[in-house]
Amino acid sequence: MKISFAAPRMPRSGTVVVAIMEDRKMSPHASEIDKQTGGALKRAMEASRFTGKPDETMMIPAPANMGDVSRVMLIGVGKPRLGDRSVRQNRGGVILAALNAVGETNAAFFVNAFKGKDTAMAAADLAFGAKLRSYRFDKYRTKEKPEQKPSMKELTLLVDGPKAAEKEFEPLDKIADGVIFTRDLVSEPANVIYPESLAAEAKKLASLGVEVEVLDEKQMKTLGMNMLLGVAQGSRKPARLVVMQWKGNPRAKNKAPLAFLGKGVTFDTGGISIKPAGGMEDMKWDMGGAGVVIGLMKALAGRKARVNVVGIAGCVENMPDGNAQRPGDIVKSMSGQTVEVINTDAEGRLVLGDALWYCQDRFKPQFMVNLATLTGAIIVALGHDHAGLFSNNEMLAERLVSAGKSVEEKLWRMPLGDAYDRMLDSDAADMKNIGGRDAGSITAAQFLQRFVNNVPWAHLDIAGMTWSKKDTAIVPKGATAFGVRLLERFVADHYEGK
Ligand code: BES
Ligand code: MN
Ligand code: ZN
Repeated sequence: MKISFAAPRMPRSGTVVVAIMEDRKMSPHASEIDKQTGGALKRAMEASRFTGKPDETMMIPAPANMGDVSRVMLIGVGKPRLGDRSVRQNRGGVILAALNAVGETNAAFFVNAFKGKDTAMAAADLAFGAKLRSYRFDKYRTKEKPEQKPSMKELTLLVDGPKAAEKEFEPLDKIADGVIFTRDLVSEPANVIYPESLAAEAKKLASLGVEVEVLDEKQMKTLGMNMLLGVAQGSRKPARLVVMQWKGNPRAKNKAPLAFLGKGVTFDTGGISIKPAGGMEDMKWDMGGAGVVIGLMKALAGRKARVNVVGIAGCVENMPDGNAQRPGDIVKSMSGQTVEVINTDAEGRLVLGDALWYCQDRFKPQFMVNLATLTGAIIVALGHDHAGLFSNNEMLAERLVSAGKSVEEKLWRMPLGDAYDRMLDSDAADMKNIGGRDAGSITAAQFLQRFVNNVPWAHLDIAGMTWSKKDTAIVPKGATAFGVRLLERFVADHYEGK
C-alpha cells in the first residue's frame, strides 16, 4: 500500500475520511462535505448509533454531489484534542482495516487540524498505524481470489504542510520497515528459515550500513560454545551466531555499545525430550527473539539512529536424531561452567547462555537486553497481554517498562532471587538446565543470569507475545514483532547522541 501526504483538497474519487468529535460534532471538512451532500452526514449519523466516540466508524456510500467519490467514511475521535501518539497510531490502523473491509482501494483522510498542535506528527502517526496494520503474510496463498485480498492500494493523508508531515513520517516509516522485516522472518516456516537462511537474511542489513558477521560451528567450537552447539547437534542444519553492529554514533566509538540478543531457535521439536504433536507447528516462531533483534537493527540503521548497538542472534534448530543431545548429557559452556541437560526442550537458555557470555566477553557492553520465547510458563503467568521482564538492574528495568507503556508493548517485572537460583543446582555438574515445575519462567531467567557477569542485564520472555491469534489496531494476527517498537523507543528515549 502506498502512503502519501498532500495538502487538503476535496478528492474526486475513492473514499473520503473525515473526523467526527464527541456528540456528533463535525470537523471543518466534515461540515463542508455535509453541506455539499445536502446534509447526508448529519442524517446518516442521526439514523444510526454513531456519535463520534473514539474509533467508531461509519460508511456513507455513494454520497450525492461528490463526483466519483465512492463513500464518505466517518471516524470518531472523541474529545477535540490531539490525544497521545499511540491513540493516533491505533486510529490509523482502525481506519485502514475499515477501508479494507469494504473493498476500497483508494482513500484520503482529512487530518483534523487543532490550533497550536502538531498536525504533522498526527498525520505521520496515522500513517504509521495504517502501514503497520496493512501487513499481511500471504506469499504462499496462491489461490486467493482478488476479493479475498486486502483491497487498499493508496492512502493519502490530507494535511496542512504535507512536507513537514512527510518528514515526520520518515523515521516512523523506517521503524515500520523493521517491524515488517521481523514479522516476515517470524512468519516464514522452518523449511525456509533455518540458521543459515536466517543469517543470510540478517546479512542483508549490510546494505543499510550494519556490519554483519556470521560465526559458523567451527568458530563457535573454538570459542568453547558447547552449550549452544549441543542444542544444534541433532539437526542437519548447522548452527550460526549472527553478530550485527550498527555504529551510528562515531563520536562515542570508544564508549561501550548497547547490546541486544535474541533466541533464534528456528524450530523447536523439544529434541529427545520431544514435544507433543498438537501445536508443535507453533515452534517455527521460536526464533522470535532473534527476529526482533534483526528487525530492531534494521529500524535503527534505517533511521540512522545516533547510537552504537550490537545485535546478536543465536540460531539453531532443536531436533531429535541419532546424534541429538541426550537428557543427562553434561556440556561445558563458553563461560567454563558445566551444565547437566536434564531436558533437551529447555534449549533456549542453553543457546542464550553462550551468546550472553560471548557478547559481554567481546563487546563489554553498557548493558545486555535479551529477548526469547523462553517458557510456556510465562504464558500461564501473564497470558498474552504482558511479556515477562527479569532484570538485575533497577534503572534498566524501569526504562524498559516505561518504553513498553508508551508504545503499548507492555512488560511486567518478575522476581529473581537466590532461592530460585538454588533450584538449578545439580549433583552432577555446576547446574541443571531446568529447575522443576515450579516458577518455570523464573528458574529459566536464573539460568540466563548465571551467564551474566556483572553487567546490567534484562531478559524479556516474549513467549506469549510473539504470535497473536487476533487482530488489534496496529498488529494484525500472526507474527507481532513485539519488542521492535519497544526497544526502538527505549533506545531513542535514553541512548541517542544529539
Ligand atoms: N520454546 C519453548 C517455550 C514456548 C512454549 C514458547 C510455548 C512459546 C510457546 C521452550 O524452548 C520450551 O520448550 N520450554 C519448556 C521448558 C521446560 C522444558 C522447562 C516449556 O516451557 O515447557
Ligand atoms: Mn523447547
Ligand atoms: Zn524453545
